[in-house]
Amino acid sequence: GLPLAKGLAHRGFSVFGIEENKDKVRLIGEGRDYIDPHLTDLPELLQRLKPTTDFSVVNSSQVVIVCVPTPLTKNLEPDISYVEKVSKAIGAHIQPGTLVILESTTYPGTTDEVVRPAVESGGRVKNVGKDYFLAFSPERVDPGNPHYNTYNTTKVLGGATPACSQAARAVYEALLEDPELVRTASCTRAAEMEKLFENIFRSVNIALVNELAILCRSMGLDVWEIIDLASSKPYGFMPFYPGPGIGGHCIPLDPFYLAWKAREYDFRTRFIELAGELNALMPRHVVELCSEALAHKGLSGASVLIVGAAYKPNISDSRESPAIRIAELLGKRGARLSLYDPLAGELRLRDGQTLLTISQTGDRTFDLVVLLTVH
Ligand SMILES: NC(=O)c1ccc[n+]([C@@H]2O[C@H](COP(=O)([O-])OP(=O)(O)OC[C@H]3O[C@@H](n4cnc5c(N)ncnc54)[C@H](O)[C@@H]3O)[C@@H](O)[C@H]2O)c1
Repeated sequence: GLPLAKGLAHRGFSVFGIEENKDKVRLIGEGRDYIDPHLTDLPELLQRLKPTTDFSVVNSSQVVIVCVPTPLTKNLEPDISYVEKVSKAIGAHIQPGTLVILESTTYPGTTDEVVRPAVESGGRVKNVGKDYFLAFSPERVDPGNPHYNTYNTTKVLGGATPACSQAARAVYEALLEDPELVRTASCTRAAEMEKLFENIFRSVNIALVNELAILCRSMGLDVWEIIDLASSKPYGFMPFYPGPGIGGHCIPLDPFYLAWKAREYDFRTRFIELAGELNALMPRHVVELCSEALAHKGLSGASVLIVGAAYKPNISDSRESPAIRIAELLGKRGARLSLYDPLAGELRLRDGQTLLTISQTGDRTFDLVVLLTVH
């Protein structure tokens, strides 16, 4: 939500940023961008961007955009509770004529089946497309991407009615640098589905190349050479690269939103499940490589430095990072772990243990260095 709020403030909108975490509200109020700390544009935006914990500001807002988390439950089922709770809070304060947009990644049907009834349950609006407007528009932020940002990344939207699409279009046309970058889907469900397809496409292709990497190693081939050679084909091929597993808030989780919804249609999404399985195997594969590398000494008692806690280069985010699983598996095998990641700063394991980054690597020696993310 913060990059979007900043983008809208940049374009001259008066923006309230509702956030339940008081620390984040305080940081934004102090002009500190906790997502991209190197960005210095927040202080000047604070004239138009007001962080708050108070939902009553919905009363005086013409557009309300929802960017709350959409995680999975322990059983890999969608946890839509954040979307539901926030939609109800909006419904309690909404004024007629307001446009509500959901940006959180979710399964097809959420806007219509969850957001709409929750907003209407407040009793202040009831006819979508007439006395209020509702749309879905997926977030496409790519943290750390130096080329694509809020203003130049194509934005897809789908309204609950044509009037809803038109209203949402007006907002994003004002935000993006070129109105041609706004694409209108036929309905909210089509926009919800296309976002999941984007992330499933990545998950499946990463799984494919991870599998190839393991096979190439057994066959004595260099997978990077194979990818490079295949990339010489000017059409019909797009390179993906192997890695220690997938991480972040999106690719490991989002595909399961569709797998869950598909079951309602008696349909099994086999590609999604297989890709999830293959990608989840990679941390174990990395630990096997570590064990092979230290065959002369054994992992137990070995000093191991993990380089890179973040799930991809040049960002500080270590949510769902494969480094977590790798550290846990190495720890179970008795390795003594150190971490180096000046951007992420730390790696939180699921048992509550936290590895803090060492400040520099030069004056220490290790039995093994595991390079996971190169910033
Ligand atoms: N981060 C990305 O790069 C990215 C990219 C594409 C899509 N998305 C999607 O965007 C959504 C949000 O992801 P994120 O990474 O920004 O999550 P996040 O956890 O970083 O941010 C969500 C914020 O919502 C706040 N929040 C939760 N419940 C609230 C409530 N009831 N009232 C007010 N604030 C509340 C949280 O405190 C948190 O600060 C998810 O659906 C995600 O899949 C994220």
